[in-house]
Amino acid sequence: MKQNHLIARAKQLLDAGELVAIPTETVYGLAADATNLEAVDKIYKVKGRPSNNPVILHFASLEAATPYILDITEEAQKLAAAFWPGPLTLLLPKSAKVPDRITAGLPRVAIRVPNNELTLTLLGQLSYPLAAPSANPSGYISPTTAEHVTRQLGHKVSLVLDGGPCDQGLESTIFGWDGEGRPTVYRKGTITEEAIAQVLHSIPRTHTTKTIEAPGMLSSHYAPHTRTLITEDLVATIEEHKDTNFGVIALDSKMETKGLNHLIVLSIGGHLPEAASNLYSAMHQMDTKGLDLIIIEKAPDFGIGKAINDRILRATGGIKKKAP
Ligand code: TXA
Ligand code: MG
Repeated sequence: MKQNHLIARAKQLLDAGELVAIPTETVYGLAADATNLEAVDKIYKVKGRPSNNPVILHFASLEAATPYILDITEEAQKLAAAFWPGPLTLLLPKSAKVPDRITAGLPRVAIRVPNNELTLTLLGQLSYPLAAPSANPSGYISPTTAEHVTRQLGHKVSLVLDGGPCDQGLESTIFGWDGEGRPTVYRKGTITEEAIAQVLHSIPRTHTTKTIEAPGMLSSHYAPHTRTLITEDLVATIEEHKDTNFGVIALDSKMETKGLNHLIVLSIGGHLPEAASNLYSAMHQMDTKGLDLIIIEKAPDFGIGKAINDRILRATGGIKKKAP
């Protein structure tokens, strides 16, 4: 009952062109009626987001998204069937129903069906898609709890729908077909290249050029304010910085016996999905401690580890290699 009341309130605000922060399985989004350009402008203003950075549209289902897409190939349908609702964003040719403002003039629109009960129920009651980038100030770490949103943007958002901590904790995988029709991952996420390959029977390439095609690919995105390092060798890096006030974010519990002042373990058993879901919370927490340095342990470079490393790298100046 309380949830129904909150959803009704969210709908009322969105219908009136206001911003509502919504939970998703990846990170919290800062949502507005995608067909109301004044409302969409508020998103850019509140985030301090450059206007040439397009936003993702969120729908309750593929059927609801169909009028906003020019055509949907069989392969795209297969991916939607396999992963929606879920953390996959598809870049597909946009129909005239999608305002150019949404795609920053690009020919494709980014769409996804998020896997969160509150937000799916809300989307099901709306007559328009929700435009929603991550609910953080542009360039800062994405929020994975309602509290992160409130702390960063609270006074600028009409309502923060609290759906608890995000299950996945990393932004969605962005996938599409490039100019030559090749399957391409534009942003790594918890839906891995391997998982996509199983559906398409071909291995997607990873987009590498740093153009505005997907600015999430730019380095130094999602960064904490505190100087941050990624390392393959925690012990050596800790030794090297022992005279500074540092915090450590470790993949598993192996450092727990070392008497470190500030240690966050992402997953006691080193499980990558659990580590992914805790990474941003750990970065938020470390960033509020007034440290000189945050040292983050690199994940193994396979599966979800690749997405974890991608996000840590964006938060840092580069990687500390293991001594040969
Ligand atoms: O998990 C997510 O995707 C979250 C939740 C809230 O859905 N959203 C999210 O949005 O991460 P945002 O705006 O923080 O990141 C979306 C990325 C940006 O790098 C943007 O440039 C890219 O997607 N993008 C959006 N629309 C695009 C388009 N039409 N063409 C190319 N890239 C696009
Ligand atoms: Mg973002």
